[in-house]
Amino acid sequence: MTPDISLPRLMESLRSLGQVGALDGGGVCRLALTDADKAGRDWLVARMEGLGLTVHIDAIGNIWGIRAGHSDTAPVMMGSHIDTVATGGLYDGALGVLAGLEVIATLNAAGVETDLPLAVAAFTNEEGARFAPDMMGSGVHQGALDLSEMLATRATGGTAVVGEELARIGYAGTAVPFTPAAYLELHIEQGPVLEVEGLRIGAVTSVQGIHWTEVTVTGQTNHAGTTPMALRRDAGQVGFAIARAADAIAARLGPPQVATVGVFELSPGLVNVVPGTARLTVDMRNTDGDVLDAATEELLAEAQALAQAAGCTIDIRPLARFAPVVFDAGLVDKVARAAEARQLPTRRMPSGAGHDAQMFAPNCPTAMIFIPSAGGLSHNINEHSDEDDIGAGAQVLCDVVCDLAGAQI
Ligand code: GLV
Ligand code: MN
Ligand code: MN
Repeated sequence: MTPDISLPRLMESLRSLGQVGALDGGGVCRLALTDADKAGRDWLVARMEGLGLTVHIDAIGNIWGIRAGHSDTAPVMMGSHIDTVATGGLYDGALGVLAGLEVIATLNAAGVETDLPLAVAAFTNEEGARFAPDMMGSGVHQGALDLSEMLATRATGGTAVVGEELARIGYAGTAVPFTPAAYLELHIEQGPVLEVEGLRIGAVTSVQGIHWTEVTVTGQTNHAGTTPMALRRDAGQVGFAIARAADAIAARLGPPQVATVGVFELSPGLVNVVPGTARLTVDMRNTDGDVLDAATEELLAEAQALAQAAGCTIDIRPLARFAPVVFDAGLVDKVARAAEARQLPTRRMPSGAGHDAQMFAPNCPTAMIFIPSAGGLSHNINEHSDEDDIGAGAQVLCDVVCDLAGAQI
């Protein structure tokens, strides 16, 4: 039998990292490559070293902690990310990394060795909230994103550059990437399904496709009182119409299509001035890659037409284009069976959120373990998961990793 993980030890580490970048009203802000992210990274590296892991930093700033096995082969990997959105909770990403450390601590305490090495990874800029695209570190590591292009990426709506920020915070490394023997990521569900169905564990089968686009409409700034409606070139109204069109496309296609306008800025943003520019972001997702491609194409064609009809120009910048991925059926089975063996009510389910695991899925056996999110809330300072569920998820992670890595129990 696999040794039992320590829930108090895991909760201590979640709470301790949760103090780094803590917000006054609750929750955390560790946007990628900020000072708070650096402080979180420093905390993590110290914890990894304390567990006897060998720490590597790669060229996009991913952090790896390696525990040697009997053989010198590719490791079985656990992990996720420790960056957050600006209004993040304690668990999105941090759970996968810290549960990985908890597995290592458990094996260390029980004196359990493994045939294959083990790795715990924290990937750079999973969130994409400051620099797009999301899953940047895992995407570069697995060759889905180009390193030089990513290092040159500017902050969305800002001037900071990934490579400069990495160097500034001291996490521009050089270690050579490798493909793991397998990758298993524990994560909160970030949606309502497990809680509503009274289940404890989700064996994740797939991740839906994600398209992010930044749209900038340029019209003419003018006087709000003197410019007749028919004679203005109002970038704001075009922006609103594009946002409504995104919503209408999602409504017409129905689930699982979703569309979100998360950024909407007007300039100069004054009460008595017709807006000269509108900048908005559109996040569109679907489990069917063809439907998603068609939805994005339709929206962007409509955006062009709306701008042209209003005498405005439009600039369309794709920020992320990720196709849906399917996880390894054998590994998904192992997760479901490990959960059932612990008497944890379980279901198979797709992921609505993007995850680092989707970058590894094409290249090595990959799967994810979900635990319930209270009220289905995430990317919200009130994000919460019950301690018992956190412990259950970490135990299933430990059980499957011990199986994959040939633990000498
Ligand atoms: C990552 O958190 C995403 O946007 O799904
Ligand atoms: Mn996450
Ligand atoms: Mn997230």
